[in-house]
Amino acid sequence: MNSAGEISKNLKSLIQEFEKTLGQASSLQELEQARVDFLGRKGRLAGVMSQLPGLPAQDKPAIGRLSNEVKESLNNLLSNKISDIQRKSQEEKLSVFDPSIPGRTPDTGTIHPVTRVTDDICSIFVKLGFDIVTGPEVETDFYNFEALNLPPGHPARDMQDTLYISESVVLRTHTSPLQVRTMLKCRPPLAAIAPGKVYRRDSDLTHTPMFHQIEGFLVDTNVSMADLRGTLTAFAHEIFDPRVCVRFRPSFFPFTEPSAEVDISCVMCKGCGRSPRGEPCRVCKETGWVEILGCGMIDPAVFEKVGYDPEKYTGFAFGLGVERVAMLKYGIGDLRMFFENDLRFLNQFV
Ligand code: DAH
Repeated sequence: MNSAGEISKNLKSLIQEFEKTLGQASSLQELEQARVDFLGRKGRLAGVMSQLPGLPAQDKPAIGRLSNEVKESLNNLLSNKISDIQRKSQEEKLSVFDPSIPGRTPDTGTIHPVTRVTDDICSIFVKLGFDIVTGPEVETDFYNFEALNLPPGHPARDMQDTLYISESVVLRTHTSPLQVRTMLKCRPPLAAIAPGKVYRRDSDLTHTPMFHQIEGFLVDTNVSMADLRGTLTAFAHEIFDPRVCVRFRPSFFPFTEPSAEVDISCVMCKGCGRSPRGEPCRVCKETGWVEILGCGMIDPAVFEKVGYDPEKYTGFAFGLGVERVAMLKYGIGDLRMFFENDLRFLNQFV
């Protein structure tokens, strides 16, 4: 049986031994093992303490106090060592951190080219004093056809392959209904543009069932074809290049009289019909010109439908395809690129 003196010596030597063991430990697992060995239920401290019952009663309080002090010291040594190891591993992690490595750039979206060209076109006309108006994509026969001088059975209705919702309700085939809607709501003078989606039963290499148009119209007294020419020429110079040539070619639309189509000198071959290597230009098919829009002076029959006096007012209107302008502006050869959402294509429009 050990005496109180021996037990207290053993208790004190536990501190030194624990310090030594901790000094050799370099991981949290090793520390845990040391804790179990010294402070665990069957550990060294418990082993010494198991001798306490055999001591004379007068020695017990002092040894009991000492064992508590030793236990506290061991716990303090252990927790200091744990924070030591944690701090070291943190420092190691930081020492491999290289602040000169470029940060990760978060993915950001880009503006779709159709949206971008729509915005560009709208802002040109807003600068010229036009308002922006919008209207429904599901349209009645009246606004889409009849009020635009296309009565039922009119052969010009064949020009558009209409998607019908019912006999008198259609998906609008063009943005021209906005002329009628706006004129019915406002009195002249007015100038507005109407961007939006339009739908046709058409799908091949150069047609999609949905595409985007921008309608423009201006009504006042004494508006002439010269105003139309000036406005659209300024627009073409602004959206493409001040050097493009603009020509007006006679055409037909039921809602304008006279009507014209506007061509610009080919943006690809600069109007010469051939590429720099002498190959035939595919964009203008060697003609040197590309069509960009349809236009004309608003037909008096349309004014009558909306209650404007055709003797007093004149006006012009035009309609353009946004995808077409975007293809010419950015040199895009395939219409389907706009609708496939291929990020390699879209990411180029930052
Ligand atoms: N609405 C015609 C179409 O979709 C385009 C158009 C031509 C609009 C002449 C006009 C215009 O306002 O004057 O084919």
